[in-house]
Amino acid sequence: MRPSAVAVSWVVPLAVALSVVGSRGASAQQPTPAAPAAAPSAAKESPAKNPFTSDAAAIAEGKRLFFKWNCYGCHGTQGGGGMGPSLIDTEWRYGGDDASVFETIKHGRPNGMPPWADKLTDEEIWKVMAYVRSLYKGDPAKIVW
Ligand code: HEC
Repeated sequence: MRPSAVAVSWVVPLAVALSVVGSRGASAQQPTPAAPAAAPSAAKESPAKNPFTSDAAAIAEGKRLFFKWNCYGCHGTQGGGGMGPSLIDTEWRYGGDDASVFETIKHGRPNGMPPWADKLTDEEIWKVMAYVRSLYKGDPAKIVW
């Protein structure tokens, strides 16, 4: 009799404590703001043109994302290529215009480019693109964005 009474005396409070911790963890995820209030409204509709090209703050954020999500692991720390193709030259397998590059990043491409739709918002894709554009080393006459 005695051992089981001892066991219950700590098991129950422990279970209660765990469920409290668990529910706090869940509720902490609730009040996530949908989008930053200052974001340009154009970015929400996936425009064909990147609203963030040449925007210094967006480029800085895009750089952070480029490293956070390991784009550099396949495309090189300067975007010059590695296992994945260079992102800073004039050659584009799937088109270099904004709409094509957006599509490439959002939905991926068959020969090893993962889709990012689940990890990056549209706005984040445009920002990472703004960073990639800032790295461009090709002929300025061949810029198609
Ligand atoms: C696991 C490796 C890998 C990662 C991580 C990766 N890529 Fe790629 N990426 C590739 C490969 C491989 C291709 C070429 C796919 C093909 O030819 O079908 C590619 C293609 C691309 C292209 C199109 C290039 C062209 O010539 O049309 C862009 C743009 C691009 N990636 C951007 C990114 C960005 C931005 C990230 C991070 C969010 C990223 N990639 C992360 C491997 C990767």
